[in-house]
Order: sequence, then C-alpha cells, then structure tokens
Amino acid sequence: MIIYKTDAEIAFMKESATLVSKTLTEVAKVLKPGITTLDIDALCASFIKDHNAIPSFLNYRGYPYTICASVNDVVVHGFPNKVPLKEGDIVSIDMGLILNRWHGDHAYTFIIGEVPQAVLDLVRVTKESLYKGIEKAIVNNRIGDIAYAIQEHTEMKHGYGVVRELVGHGIGKSLHEDPQMPNYGKRGTGPKLKENLVLAIEPMINMGSKEVYTEDDGWTVKTRDGKPAVHFEHDVCVKRNKALILSDYSIIEAAEKANPNLNTSYYS
Ligand code: MF3
Ligand code: CO
Repeated sequence: MIIYKTDAEIAFMKESATLVSKTLTEVAKVLKPGITTLDIDALCASFIKDHNAIPSFLNYRGYPYTICASVNDVVVHGFPNKVPLKEGDIVSIDMGLILNRWHGDHAYTFIIGEVPQAVLDLVRVTKESLYKGIEKAIVNNRIGDIAYAIQEHTEMKHGYGVVRELVGHGIGKSLHEDPQMPNYGKRGTGPKLKENLVLAIEPMINMGSKEVYTEDDGWTVKTRDGKPAVHFEHDVCVKRNKALILSDYSIIEAAEKANPNLNTSYYS
C-alpha cells in the first residue's frame, strides 16, 4: 500500500532528510587516509543523538551499526570496521535516522585522493543518473520511468552494471514503504506517481558486471568481479512539475570541496 504524505508531513520529512545530510556533512569534514569506518560510525551515532534523532539502521533486521560504509568493491551494506581508509578508496556512506517519528535515509560516495579516471567517471555518471531519475519523479509518470532513466544513463550509455538484487523504496513513518524503486525497468510501467509520494531513489552502479554476492555476515554486498561500485541516494517528494529533493547534497559538497583529502575533480 502506497502512503501519500500531507504537506505538513513532507515538512517533517525534509527535516529528517536534512539531518542525514548534516550528518554526512560532518563525515565529509573528517574523511582522510588513516581514519576508519568505525570512527565514522561513532561520529555519526553521536551526531544523530545530539540532534534528538535515533539511528534507523541500527538493529533493523539485526543490522549491527548506525551507518553502512561500503568501500571499493562493496556495493552496499558494508559493516564499519577498523581498516584505515587509504588514498584511492571510494567510500559510500549510507545512513538513516528517525526524527519526530519521520525517517530520513540517504547516501553519498566520497573519493579519497587520487583515483583512476575510470573511477571518477563511474562516480560522476552514478550521481548524474540519480538526478536523471529524479527528473522523472513527477505526477502521472510511473516508477518505470524513473527506473529506466537511471538504467539508460548508466547501463545503456556507459556500459556499467545496474545491480538487480537491491532497490530503492518509499519512505515515511517506516524506513521501507511501498513502492519498490528499482534502478532498471521499462518506461510507462509500474505504479503511477501521485503528488506527495516520497521515494528513496538509490542507484547502485558497478563499473563492471551487474553481478553481486552477499558475504557470510549476511549483509555485505560485493561485486562478483571485484571492480568498484558506487551508491548515491536522495529522498525525493513527487510533485506536479518538478520533484522536491528533501535531502541536501549542497552542504555535503561544500564540505567535500573544502577537505583537501577528498577528490571532487569530477564535478568541481
Ligand atoms: N539505504 C538502504 C536501504 O534503504 C540501507 C538499509 S541498511 C539497513 O535499504 F541496515 F537498514 F538494512
Ligand atoms: Co534507502
């Protein structure tokens, strides 16, 4: 069942999504070679608590951390660990929280130092594909229009692998609501979009093949070919002419550009 939100509820959800963005902004300030993803997890946990919110991933179906930290060939759901990050790593930080009973859930991929041009291209194209999907998140389009826009830009145009096993989702008073939001599909198919549907749109794009597997921990999803993967996610409200993006990359990007350890050359 799809749950549409009132304008007042959308305002609350914007607060929740923006608090995730603010937390990711704190991450963007401190990322550097030598820091561990467990350090980042602790930072996020305390920032969320200090802002009167509750982490939503922690204990979700037994997930044991506040954030998902997915490095290089980890696509999503990577456990934070004690391995120091190093130059050349790409790190997706995905995080969810509950503020005033409303969920926010979004993700950003950071690049530490120098990486091959092929990695810069993958990060750029994945972020672009998220916005191409968002452009289709308007009233009377269908879920398949968003999905196709993402697949078209990544798989058809650039030859990347679009992960099939994992999808985006509706979001609201629950982390995962209907409908499912795949990153592949056919135009003109799937549920019709109505005003004030809130979607977490989250392309998970592999440089190589689309095939993935889950490690024995039951969570960590990796590319089969060992090539890198990138993950970006926004919380988006369907509107009549132009979708309203509830999360805010601008503050993350400002901190990212100000951090000399992070590589923003693909967009700045
Ligand atoms: N953004 C992902 C999702 O919405 C992250 C979920 S991780 C989990 O599915 F720990 F909450 F499962
Ligand atoms: Co999500």
